[in-house]
Amino acid sequence: MKKILIIANWKMNGSVVANSKLLMAMLKFSNSLSHSELVVCPPHIYMHQVKEYIVGSGIKLGAQNVNENDDGAYTGEVSVQMLGDFYCRYCLVGHSERRLLFNESTTRIADKIIRLVAGGLTPVLCIGENLAQRERGEAKRIVTEQLAAIIEIVGLTCFKSVVIAYEPIWAIGTGKTASAEQAQDVHKVIRQYLCNLDKNIFKNLSILYGGSVNENNAGDLIKQSDIDGFLIGGASLKAASLESIYLGVDSVKA
Ligand code: PGA
Repeated sequence: MKKILIIANWKMNGSVVANSKLLMAMLKFSNSLSHSELVVCPPHIYMHQVKEYIVGSGIKLGAQNVNENDDGAYTGEVSVQMLGDFYCRYCLVGHSERRLLFNESTTRIADKIIRLVAGGLTPVLCIGENLAQRERGEAKRIVTEQLAAIIEIVGLTCFKSVVIAYEPIWAIGTGKTASAEQAQDVHKVIRQYLCNLDKNIFKNLSILYGGSVNENNAGDLIKQSDIDGFLIGGASLKAASLESIYLGVDSVKA
């Protein structure tokens, strides 16, 4: 059975002391025999600290960003190989904050995916519509266009290693979650779109939901047939919220 993925995106938050407390709590409630895989994506500078805590546990390490080049004069950047040195398994790509605040283009996102897959890491590709697009009824068109643009560059064989995170931009950090029905609706379209391209390649595809997931809405969301886990920002910084989401998800999909 495919594991439920719960990815904690710490964004630019944390400190050595705060991380330590959070990680200690996570080690207590996480269980390597559970149906869910818990992944922590800290800021790069804390990757070593997180790795030291989670070694031997079921918790996995992820990154929030990577550079699409192998090495060289790219001040401030981190390569796929460097992430691999820390046993990093996952890396977010195409997060709306990176697309909007750091002008990340489709081509760069695709190049990152190609490098990550070649390096044995799993890219977690974030897609989603903004509020105006949602209000115009364009959500499904936008997400399929975002997928098509990336697949055109990376190809289906590479894309089969990708985990998708549907993150409606209007729901990120706003406290406004998509309802379980709204999320399921889009997740279903994503799955159908990819399965129509190649049913075999995408039969085990994981599609996560992200956008103000918390302990109150996670239960309803995870019951939806096309929601395979979560990408969690704010609530992943609070040990009690994350614990409640993790344990709740496990009991629903058990
Ligand atoms: P949020 O962030 O849970 O704080 O809305 C989700 C994300 O941006 O990945």
